[in-house]
Amino acid sequence: MSHFAYRNRTLHIENLPLAQVAAEFGTPTYVYSRASLEENFAAYANACKQHGRSDAHGALVCYSVKSNSNLAVLNLLGKLGSGFDIVSGGELLRVIAAGGDPRKVIFSGVGKSREEMRLALSHDILCFNVESIPELHRLNAIALEMGKRAPVSLRVNPNVDAKTHPYISTGLKDNKFGIAFEEAIATYKVAASLPGLQVVGIDCHIGSQLLDDAPLLEALDKVIELVDTLNDAGIVLHHLDIGGGIGITYDDEKPVAVADYLARLFARIDDWRAKKYAGNNITVLFEPGRSIVGNAGVLLTEVQYLKHGETKNFAVVDAAMNDLMRPAMYEAWHGVQALQKREGSSQVYDVVGPVCESGDWLARARALTLEQGDLLAIMSAGAYGMTMASNYNTRGRAAEVLVDGEQSMLIRKREMPADLFALESIPK
Ligand code: LLP
Repeated sequence: MSHFAYRNRTLHIENLPLAQVAAEFGTPTYVYSRASLEENFAAYANACKQHGRSDAHGALVCYSVKSNSNLAVLNLLGKLGSGFDIVSGGELLRVIAAGGDPRKVIFSGVGKSREEMRLALSHDILCFNVESIPELHRLNAIALEMGKRAPVSLRVNPNVDAKTHPYISTGLKDNKFGIAFEEAIATYKVAASLPGLQVVGIDCHIGSQLLDDAPLLEALDKVIELVDTLNDAGIVLHHLDIGGGIGITYDDEKPVAVADYLARLFARIDDWRAKKYAGNNITVLFEPGRSIVGNAGVLLTEVQYLKHGETKNFAVVDAAMNDLMRPAMYEAWHGVQALQKREGSSQVYDVVGPVCESGDWLARARALTLEQGDLLAIMSAGAYGMTMASNYNTRGRAAEVLVDGEQSMLIRKREMPADLFALESIPK
């Protein structure tokens, strides 16, 4: 269920009018609903449980930190039992600072540095998702130096078309990600021969904002085939990581329900176990991001000026592409809702920010009834919003607020200009 709804023409988050959050914390501000976060995580956790799997046995949800890495969000999910999918040493330190369990962390990404490997090994993370042979060798050398064995999974590229935006599609041959399917067995043999590594799993992630689970199940079938072949070759895997990728509704998209996707996925895995798989004890890992936080958050902004032009009307707001990059970067569509709905006729506006770029828009051609000073919510902004924000134009990043019922808590202060140049210096 959505925790954003109008009551008497006033947009609420849970039981709190969003205008109250704007009045207390200013704009632009990201606001997240605790109930939404919990429900979205529970969709995964409950489906796992229903199929007889828990985090200790048979399944682990590793929330993808890059989608929203605020400590409060990580802390909340960690308490619900979540593991974490990270892509940098910085994200690992965030997880630890948030009280997350490093032994439930998997480390993805094509460019892990030596320092990042050392850091992750020193915290005994669950697994490194390795994406190339040179990475295997580097990790092996560092693990040996530290007197450890690094748990590894290979990220294989099943060459499945995720049918999503090309920038967020990652499972095709010409993507930079993963190890080509045809080279997987040979690469596993290399990994198994290195004394500093312990081969524990297999991983894939084919893309993001998938509305249909068919490509994910196709990828699963290909991965299962590999696990069997490896098993026959004496390389026995303990986990299979299917990645993230389930999409959300921004406009009128109808993404597959997490429960239905997981039901189909576990059915295939059970079927496979019954028929073939000798190990019979494989744990399934998920790396969801957007489907947990995307629709749990909005970005609040205030209309600064209305510009009525000859061919277009602009609503200039105080949030910009530096706060929410998705429209400029992917032409992504986000809903725009007035915090207080006005009576009267609407006009068609482009909602734009103050940044000096024509690409600085948040929404285009929207029918809105607006006056200067009105407050708006940019909807579905919980994932890849704040984490992709920049300081372009020396704009401090937005504040972040978590709402629980009718309570609001500041979970990140607004950045002030002096924060932005605090690390800089002028040579003598
Ligand atoms: N695992 C890996 C290895 C990933 O690369 C990603 C996302 C995820 C998990 C989480 O996927 P999700 O469940 O959120 O779909 N900035 C883009 C999305 C980039 C996704 C990158 N990888 C956007 O704003 O749409």
